[in-house]
Amino acid sequence: MKLHNYYGGSWQEPSNANYAAVLNPANGEELAQVQLSTKEDVEAAVKAAKEAQKKWALVPAPKRADYLYEIGRVMKERKEHLAQVLTKEMGKVIEEARGEVQEGIDMAYYMAGEGRRLFGETTPSELADKFAMSVRAPIGVVGLITPWNFPVAIATWKSFPAIVAGNTFIWKPATETPMLAYEMAKIFDEVGFPAGVANIVFGSGSEVGTAMIEHPDVKVISFTGSTDTGSKVAELGGRHLKKVSLEMGGKNAVIVMDDADLNLAVEGILWSAFGTAGQRCTACSRVIVHKDVKAELETRLLEAMKQLTIGDGLDESVKVGPVINKAALEKIHSYVEIGQGEAKLLTGGQIMTDSPYDKGCYYEPTLFTDVPANARIAQEEIFGPVVSLIEVGSLEEAIEVNNSVKYGLSSSIFTRDVNRVFKAQRDLDTGIVYVNAGTTGAEIHLPFGGTKGTGNGHRDSGVAALDVYTEWKSVYVDF
Ligand code: ALA
Repeated sequence: MKLHNYYGGSWQEPSNANYAAVLNPANGEELAQVQLSTKEDVEAAVKAAKEAQKKWALVPAPKRADYLYEIGRVMKERKEHLAQVLTKEMGKVIEEARGEVQEGIDMAYYMAGEGRRLFGETTPSELADKFAMSVRAPIGVVGLITPWNFPVAIATWKSFPAIVAGNTFIWKPATETPMLAYEMAKIFDEVGFPAGVANIVFGSGSEVGTAMIEHPDVKVISFTGSTDTGSKVAELGGRHLKKVSLEMGGKNAVIVMDDADLNLAVEGILWSAFGTAGQRCTACSRVIVHKDVKAELETRLLEAMKQLTIGDGLDESVKVGPVINKAALEKIHSYVEIGQGEAKLLTGGQIMTDSPYDKGCYYEPTLFTDVPANARIAQEEIFGPVVSLIEVGSLEEAIEVNNSVKYGLSSSIFTRDVNRVFKAQRDLDTGIVYVNAGTTGAEIHLPFGGTKGTGNGHRDSGVAALDVYTEWKSVYVDF
């Protein structure tokens, strides 16, 4: 199966013979080949999107929203199929894949609703016989660059608000996970968008991503991915005076206080640390634990980790799937080797090489303890199933340790004390705070994003997402 670009309302002939193989990380099987597009493909897609945008902006927002209702309906109908494709190309277990597709469906309906609420404001003027108001105006063609760990949800967080606000988009999905993008392109085609509203160009960041950022007719870039790549996107975007929205890495912590419900804490840690094999920007990779419950938490966590079944995520009984590819395995393992010089390895720490794991990309769920807060494994994003346990003596120290990393996406606290809850939600320097739940599971109706090295002040999801895809226009009418 060969995956080709979709833009200007039709499937496009390949402009060259360059393809990348899409491999199933569970067993190495080749699933498809994806086109590696060129600057010329981007040029043609932007031309179509620019042309379409002029008319699309004139379609009333509630009518633009109707397309999203239809997308939501079709996604719902195909939910199981989409989830199966997602598990095959990305590796996350089927239950999580269904959850991710559901996020996309929810986003379709949520943003469709926003089509009736693209509110502006009227403001009393200083002067007599003058009317003052502000309206949200679309920006134009927007460029969306999305990662492989949430191949469908993140694309919907970006494309749906862009569309409802009256923009057209060019979407570059990650080369590792183009099959879901291909499925979405089929849906965009079927719901009958005017040609050029929804456009997908497959290819590498260096060729396609760069061409999108440099193109004068692409006015906004919304990027989710690593902090290293995001910094480059920001730099290039800055040179071309783009509005750039960045959602990048995390080094998220669960804080477990001495009054926590430890069963609940273990459940929260397991799900947020080992779900998606630790490859979520929101994944828990640090546990900051009060010294009085550290030993007990360690024992319970180890016991619970023994019960985690590892394997192909299509098997309903599997809890931890493979990581995305061999390069990820090696990166994770190199951090574990660093960690062995910094802390005590309690369990895991190996690439799984026995049959049937040898055919895929499996890493053992791994737990380090006695990790100094400033150790590299406690500071740098590993993006795999590796957790560092850090001991503290008070809530103040826990918050200080939480905030000592360069990222600020998600944090969590387990406690029964309401005063600690309110203090923590105020002082934890992250865009998202959970109380008595793990660090993952953000819903689409609230802003999603983080502080410091995680973002640059913009948000995906929630009404806040509309700020990325609209300009405020102030209108004064003298009468
Ligand atoms: N919704 C996903 C999470 O919070 C990104 O983990």
